[in-house]
Amino acid sequence: MTGNSSYPIPVNGLYTVSTVVLLVSSVKCAPGSALVLVLFGNYMQTQLNRTFSIAPMLDWTDRHYRYFARLMSAEVLLYTEMVTTGAIIHGRGDYLAYNQEEHPVALQLGGSNAVDLATCAKLAAERGYDEINLNVGCPSDRVQNGRFGACLMAEPTLVAECVDAMKQVVDIPVTVKTRIGIDEQDSYEFLTEFIDTVKAVGCNDFIIHARKAWLQGLSPKENREIPELDYERVYQLKRDYADLSISINGGVKTLAECKTHLQQLDGVMVGREAYQNPYILAEVDQQLCGIDKPVMSRDAVLEKLLPYIEKHLQAGGKLNHVTRHIIGLFQGEVGSRVWRRYISENAHKSGAGIEVVTQARQEMKAVVSL
Ligand SMILES: Cc1cc2nc3c(=O)[nH]c(=O)nc-3n(C[C@H](O)[C@H](O)[C@H](O)COP(=O)(O)O)c2cc1C
Repeated sequence: MTGNSSYPIPVNGLYTVSTVVLLVSSVKCAPGSALVLVLFGNYMQTQLNRTFSIAPMLDWTDRHYRYFARLMSAEVLLYTEMVTTGAIIHGRGDYLAYNQEEHPVALQLGGSNAVDLATCAKLAAERGYDEINLNVGCPSDRVQNGRFGACLMAEPTLVAECVDAMKQVVDIPVTVKTRIGIDEQDSYEFLTEFIDTVKAVGCNDFIIHARKAWLQGLSPKENREIPELDYERVYQLKRDYADLSISINGGVKTLAECKTHLQQLDGVMVGREAYQNPYILAEVDQQLCGIDKPVMSRDAVLEKLLPYIEKHLQAGGKLNHVTRHIIGLFQGEVGSRVWRRYISENAHKSGAGIEVVTQARQEMKAVVSL
């Protein structure tokens, strides 16, 4: 909680709902607090800063990327890749592993069996995740065959049942990431019926990818490019559901665009740009959250990452498991191609160590000073 002596005194140990709303709105983007605690009755409720979040991206936003992203911003809300309930319940690996430094971090679940989702949500909450997010946006065939992802937009009652089951067993927020429609079902009424049904079980936070998904005939990649973005529809949703937290997702590339969206909405979720040009994160805290601190240089970010890479290597990990996520760090800088090429050509070699990273930097500097 941010220090503020004017917070009201609870009557009989309880805050009224309006008091909580006041508290929440007053600390929404409190400097230096990605996560604030709001007193509600006898227990603490977490209030996450949703101003800027990094989208769940399979194969991309793994724990190494998330650690790297966190070095650049204390405020961004990180989402894991989608993890299916089947993997968590029946898989052999630890699909819930993450670094403590990642907080605040949300686990995105894929599934549509309420009992399984509740089991996984509970396990995740016990492991310390800050939020559970249900994937209602992925259009891949594999996901559709498992009856989850975007096709669930057509089954709002089932989604509500799943959200309700998860909410029954965890105290952290349970949120939904969805699209504005699927196939021919792309009217505003279709979207609001979905929202109404899921809201009715107490889901207060929605992330809306502002394009519909075509469930047949388009690949997941095409489904991130071909259906048109409709930001206005998401703005309309926020106007009609002022009590909900609505974050927008899709095609956002700059912090200036984020600022425009934030005039209408509670949060912006950025995917590809945050991965391919990760240094965009270095100014999120200052530009979007009003935090007064120096912007870290790319070299300083790298410097901070080196001990993490060393620890990873000492634990038997492979260099390119981390370095594949930092290939875009110098995007837009002179010599960035040299960096990218050196890492790509050398980091996967057997026995590759930290020297590949330092050498890549040297090679890049040599080109710049030529
Ligand atoms: C490689 C990749 C993997 C993705 N995996 C997921 C996923 O696991 N769960 C999900 O909800 N969305 C996933 N998405 C979609 C993104 O979360 C996001 O909705 C989409 O990329 C649009 O945002 P952007 O234009 O900012 O990238 C993925 C996107 C990419 C590029």
